[in-house]
Amino acid sequence: MLEPVKTHYDEFLGSLYSWILGDFSNAYKKYLTFFKSIELNQNQTSVAIDLGCGPGCQSLPLADLGYDVLAIDFCKELLEELVEHAGDRSITTVHDDLRVFRKYIDEPVDLIICMGDTLAHLANHQSVAKLLDDIARTLKTDGKFIYAIRDYFSFIPEGSDRFIPIRANDDMIFTCFLDYNDDKVHVHDILHRKIEGVWQTTISDYQKLRLNTDQINKKLESNGLQMESSSLLDGMIVGIFKKI
Ligand SMILES: C[S@@+](CC[C@H](N)C(=O)[O-])C[C@H]1O[C@@H](n2cnc3c(N)ncnc32)[C@H](O)[C@@H]1O
Repeated sequence: MLEPVKTHYDEFLGSLYSWILGDFSNAYKKYLTFFKSIELNQNQTSVAIDLGCGPGCQSLPLADLGYDVLAIDFCKELLEELVEHAGDRSITTVHDDLRVFRKYIDEPVDLIICMGDTLAHLANHQSVAKLLDDIARTLKTDGKFIYAIRDYFSFIPEGSDRFIPIRANDDMIFTCFLDYNDDKVHVHDILHRKIEGVWQTTISDYQKLRLNTDQINKKLESNGLQMESSSLLDGMIVGIFKKI
Protein backbone atom coordinates (compact mmCIF):
# COMPACT_ATOMS: atom_id res chain seq x y z
CA MET A 1 0.00 0.00 0.00
CA LEU A 2 1.28 3.49 -0.84
CA GLU A 3 1.84 5.74 2.14
CA PRO A 4 -0.80 8.49 2.45
CA VAL A 5 1.91 11.18 2.57
CA LYS A 6 3.45 9.92 -0.67
CA THR A 7 0.03 9.85 -2.34
CA HIS A 8 -0.58 13.41 -1.11
CA TYR A 9 2.66 14.63 -2.70
CA ASP A 10 2.29 12.54 -5.88
CA GLU A 11 -1.31 13.48 -6.55
CA PHE A 12 -1.67 16.93 -5.03
CA LEU A 13 1.11 18.85 -3.32
CA GLY A 14 4.05 17.94 -5.59
CA SER A 15 2.70 20.04 -8.47
CA LEU A 16 1.90 22.97 -6.14
CA TYR A 17 4.88 22.92 -3.77
CA SER A 18 7.09 25.32 -5.71
CA TRP A 19 4.22 27.78 -6.23
CA ILE A 20 3.62 27.74 -2.47
CA LEU A 21 7.34 28.16 -1.81
CA GLY A 22 7.39 31.29 -3.98
CA ASP A 23 10.46 32.49 -5.85
CA PHE A 24 12.99 29.61 -5.83
CA SER A 25 15.94 32.00 -6.00
CA ASN A 26 14.83 33.65 -2.74
CA ALA A 27 14.63 30.26 -1.03
CA TYR A 28 18.05 29.36 -2.47
CA LYS A 29 19.57 32.62 -1.14
CA LYS A 30 18.00 32.18 2.29
CA TYR A 31 19.56 28.73 2.72
CA LEU A 32 22.89 29.76 1.20
CA THR A 33 23.07 32.56 3.79
CA PHE A 34 22.07 30.12 6.54
CA PHE A 35 24.64 27.46 5.59
CA LYS A 36 27.36 30.12 5.30
CA SER A 37 26.46 31.41 8.76
CA ILE A 38 27.22 28.09 10.45
CA GLU A 39 30.55 26.31 10.63
CA LEU A 40 30.29 23.37 8.25
CA ASN A 41 33.90 22.10 8.16
CA GLN A 42 33.64 20.93 4.58
CA ASN A 43 36.74 19.99 2.62
CA GLN A 44 37.23 19.38 -1.07
CA THR A 45 35.59 15.96 -1.06
CA SER A 46 32.76 16.45 1.40
CA VAL A 47 29.54 14.54 0.92
CA ALA A 48 26.12 15.77 2.08
CA ILE A 49 22.82 13.90 2.12
CA ASP A 50 19.58 15.87 1.77
CA LEU A 51 16.70 13.79 3.15
CA GLY A 52 13.35 14.93 1.67
CA CYS A 53 15.06 17.38 -0.67
CA GLY A 54 11.93 18.59 -2.52
CA PRO A 55 12.82 20.98 -5.36
CA GLY A 56 16.32 21.51 -3.94
CA CYS A 57 16.37 24.79 -2.05
CA GLN A 58 18.89 23.27 0.38
CA SER A 59 20.67 20.85 -2.01
CA LEU A 60 21.69 23.62 -4.44
CA PRO A 61 23.35 25.91 -1.88
CA LEU A 62 25.18 22.92 -0.37
CA ALA A 63 26.50 21.96 -3.81
CA ASP A 64 27.60 25.56 -4.35
CA LEU A 65 29.46 25.42 -1.04
CA GLY A 66 31.47 22.47 -2.33
CA TYR A 67 29.52 19.39 -1.27
CA ASP A 68 28.76 16.39 -3.45
CA VAL A 69 25.08 16.12 -2.61
CA LEU A 70 22.90 13.01 -2.53
CA ALA A 71 19.34 14.35 -2.73
CA ILE A 72 16.59 11.87 -1.80
CA ASP A 73 12.85 12.26 -2.17
CA PHE A 74 9.92 9.99 -2.97
CA CYS A 75 8.14 12.65 -5.06
CA LYS A 76 9.31 12.28 -8.68
CA GLU A 77 7.87 15.59 -9.80
CA LEU A 78 9.84 17.54 -7.18
CA LEU A 79 13.04 15.63 -8.00
CA GLU A 80 12.57 16.57 -11.67
CA GLU A 81 12.29 20.22 -10.65
CA LEU A 82 15.47 19.85 -8.61
CA VAL A 83 17.30 18.42 -11.63
CA GLU A 84 16.17 21.40 -13.72
CA HIS A 85 17.38 23.87 -11.09
CA ALA A 86 20.64 21.98 -10.52
CA GLY A 87 22.23 22.32 -13.97
CA ASP A 88 25.73 20.85 -13.78
CA ARG A 89 26.06 21.05 -9.99
CA SER A 90 27.34 17.95 -8.20
CA ILE A 91 23.95 16.62 -7.08
CA THR A 92 22.84 13.01 -7.45
CA THR A 93 19.11 12.45 -7.08
CA VAL A 94 17.53 9.32 -5.65
CA HIS A 95 13.84 8.58 -6.05
CA ASP A 96 13.11 6.50 -2.97
CA ASP A 97 11.89 6.55 0.59
CA LEU A 98 14.36 8.57 2.66
CA ARG A 99 14.20 5.93 5.42
CA VAL A 100 16.34 3.61 3.27
CA PHE A 101 18.98 6.24 2.45
CA ARG A 102 21.79 4.01 3.73
CA LYS A 103 21.32 1.79 0.67
CA TYR A 104 22.83 4.58 -1.41
CA ILE A 105 26.05 5.30 0.47
CA ASP A 106 29.27 3.30 0.83
CA GLU A 107 31.04 5.22 3.55
CA PRO A 108 30.40 7.73 6.35
CA VAL A 109 29.47 11.24 5.22
CA ASP A 110 30.21 14.79 6.37
CA LEU A 111 26.72 16.26 6.54
CA ILE A 112 23.13 15.07 6.66
CA ILE A 113 20.19 17.47 6.57
CA CYS A 114 16.47 16.86 6.95
CA MET A 115 14.82 20.28 6.70
CA GLY A 116 11.51 21.90 5.80
CA ASP A 117 9.53 19.84 8.37
CA THR A 118 10.30 16.60 6.53
CA LEU A 119 10.83 14.61 9.77
CA ALA A 120 7.20 15.30 10.73
CA HIS A 121 6.06 13.56 7.52
CA LEU A 122 7.22 10.13 8.70
CA ALA A 123 4.46 7.66 9.57
CA ASN A 124 5.22 7.24 13.27
CA HIS A 125 7.61 8.11 16.08
CA GLN A 126 9.42 4.76 15.77
CA SER A 127 10.36 5.63 12.17
CA VAL A 128 11.78 8.96 13.34
CA ALA A 129 13.79 7.24 16.11
CA LYS A 130 15.15 4.65 13.65
CA LEU A 131 16.04 7.37 11.13
CA LEU A 132 17.92 9.35 13.81
CA ASP A 133 19.87 6.18 14.73
CA ASP A 134 20.73 5.63 11.05
CA ILE A 135 21.77 9.26 10.62
CA ALA A 136 24.08 9.06 13.65
CA ARG A 137 25.83 5.93 12.43
CA THR A 138 26.22 7.33 8.90
CA LEU A 139 28.09 10.48 9.94
CA LYS A 140 31.88 10.76 10.12
CA THR A 141 33.40 11.96 13.37
CA ASP A 142 32.90 15.77 13.36
CA GLY A 143 30.17 15.28 10.75
CA LYS A 144 26.99 17.31 11.22
CA PHE A 145 23.26 16.76 11.21
CA ILE A 146 20.79 19.60 10.72
CA TYR A 147 17.05 19.23 11.17
CA ALA A 148 14.31 21.84 10.77
CA ILE A 149 10.76 21.20 11.96
CA ARG A 150 7.65 23.19 12.79
CA ASP A 151 6.54 23.28 16.40
CA TYR A 152 3.26 21.34 16.49
CA PHE A 153 4.10 20.13 19.98
CA SER A 154 4.22 22.91 22.53
CA PHE A 155 0.81 24.49 21.91
CA ILE A 156 -2.48 23.62 20.23
CA PRO A 157 -4.17 26.36 18.21
CA GLU A 158 -7.92 26.62 18.55
CA GLY A 159 -10.85 27.92 16.50
CA SER A 160 -9.95 30.05 13.50
CA ASP A 161 -6.24 29.87 14.39
CA ARG A 162 -6.28 26.36 12.89
CA PHE A 163 -6.81 27.88 9.40
CA ILE A 164 -3.55 29.03 7.83
CA PRO A 165 -3.64 31.10 4.64
CA ILE A 166 -0.62 29.93 2.63
CA ARG A 167 -0.70 31.72 -0.71
CA ALA A 168 -3.17 33.37 -3.09
CA ASN A 169 -3.24 35.03 -6.49
CA ASP A 170 -6.04 35.89 -8.95
CA ASP A 171 -6.60 32.22 -9.88
CA MET A 172 -5.51 30.14 -6.89
CA ILE A 173 -6.02 30.27 -3.13
CA PHE A 174 -4.20 27.76 -0.94
CA THR A 175 -5.23 27.33 2.69
CA CYS A 176 -4.21 24.79 5.30
CA PHE A 177 -6.49 23.50 8.05
CA LEU A 178 -4.88 21.75 11.03
CA ASP A 179 -6.77 19.33 13.25
CA TYR A 180 -4.71 18.36 16.33
CA ASN A 181 -4.83 14.85 17.81
CA ASP A 182 -2.77 13.37 20.65
CA ASP A 183 0.45 12.73 18.76
CA LYS A 184 -0.42 13.82 15.22
CA VAL A 185 -1.77 16.79 13.33
CA HIS A 186 -4.28 16.03 10.61
CA VAL A 187 -3.31 18.45 7.83
CA HIS A 188 -5.93 19.41 5.23
CA ASP A 189 -4.57 21.28 2.22
CA ILE A 190 -7.38 23.21 0.54
CA LEU A 191 -6.96 24.54 -2.98
CA HIS A 192 -9.47 26.89 -4.62
CA ARG A 193 -8.61 27.20 -8.30
CA LYS A 194 -10.41 29.27 -10.94
CA ILE A 195 -10.85 27.21 -14.10
CA GLU A 196 -12.50 28.95 -17.07
CA GLY A 197 -13.95 31.56 -14.71
CA VAL A 198 -15.39 29.03 -12.25
CA TRP A 199 -13.91 28.39 -8.80
CA GLN A 200 -13.24 24.73 -8.00
CA THR A 201 -12.14 23.31 -4.67
CA THR A 202 -9.83 20.37 -4.04
CA ILE A 203 -8.94 19.10 -0.58
CA SER A 204 -6.19 16.60 0.17
CA ASP A 205 -5.19 15.51 3.65
CA TYR A 206 -2.43 13.68 5.47
CA GLN A 207 -1.04 13.31 8.98
CA LYS A 208 2.05 14.94 10.40
CA LEU A 209 3.74 13.91 13.64
CA ARG A 210 3.76 16.26 16.61
CA LEU A 211 7.48 16.00 17.29
CA ASN A 212 9.01 17.02 20.59
CA THR A 213 12.44 18.56 19.98
CA ASP A 214 13.58 17.50 23.48
CA GLN A 215 13.03 13.86 22.47
CA ILE A 216 14.77 14.31 19.12
CA ASN A 217 17.72 16.02 20.79
CA LYS A 218 18.01 13.36 23.52
CA LYS A 219 17.90 10.60 20.91
CA LEU A 220 20.69 12.26 18.94
CA GLU A 221 22.76 12.84 22.09
CA SER A 222 22.34 9.19 23.13
CA ASN A 223 23.84 8.33 19.73
CA GLY A 224 27.00 10.37 20.32
CA LEU A 225 25.94 13.64 18.72
CA GLN A 226 26.39 16.95 20.49
CA MET A 227 24.07 19.90 20.02
CA GLU A 228 25.81 22.95 18.58
CA SER A 229 22.78 25.20 18.39
CA SER A 230 19.01 25.41 18.33
CA SER A 231 17.43 28.44 16.69
CA LEU A 232 14.49 29.59 14.60
CA LEU A 233 14.57 30.01 10.83
CA ASP A 234 11.37 31.18 9.14
CA GLY A 235 9.21 29.79 11.94
CA MET A 236 10.97 26.42 12.02
CA ILE A 237 13.09 25.07 14.86
CA VAL A 238 16.54 24.30 13.50
CA GLY A 239 18.81 21.93 15.44
CA ILE A 240 22.47 21.57 14.50
CA PHE A 241 24.41 18.58 15.87
CA LYS A 242 27.98 17.36 15.57
CA LYS A 243 29.14 13.74 15.90
CA ILE A 244 31.84 13.50 18.54
C1 LIG B 1 7.79 19.98 3.22
S1 LIG B 1 8.76 19.26 1.96
C2 LIG B 1 10.40 19.90 2.30
C3 LIG B 1 11.24 19.95 1.05
C4 LIG B 1 12.56 20.71 1.20
N1 LIG B 1 13.45 20.07 2.14
C5 LIG B 1 12.27 22.14 1.61
O1 LIG B 1 12.61 22.55 2.73
O2 LIG B 1 11.69 22.87 0.78
C6 LIG B 1 8.90 17.58 2.48
C7 LIG B 1 9.57 16.73 1.42
O3 LIG B 1 9.84 15.45 1.96
C8 LIG B 1 9.46 14.46 1.02
N2 LIG B 1 9.18 13.26 1.83
C9 LIG B 1 8.34 13.14 2.89
N3 LIG B 1 8.41 11.90 3.40
C10 LIG B 1 9.32 11.23 2.66
C11 LIG B 1 9.83 9.90 2.69
N4 LIG B 1 9.42 9.00 3.61
N5 LIG B 1 10.76 9.55 1.78
C12 LIG B 1 11.17 10.43 0.83
N6 LIG B 1 10.73 11.70 0.75
C13 LIG B 1 9.81 12.09 1.65
C14 LIG B 1 8.27 15.06 0.27
O4 LIG B 1 8.10 14.46 -0.99
C15 LIG B 1 8.71 16.52 0.18
O5 LIG B 1 9.48 16.77 -0.96
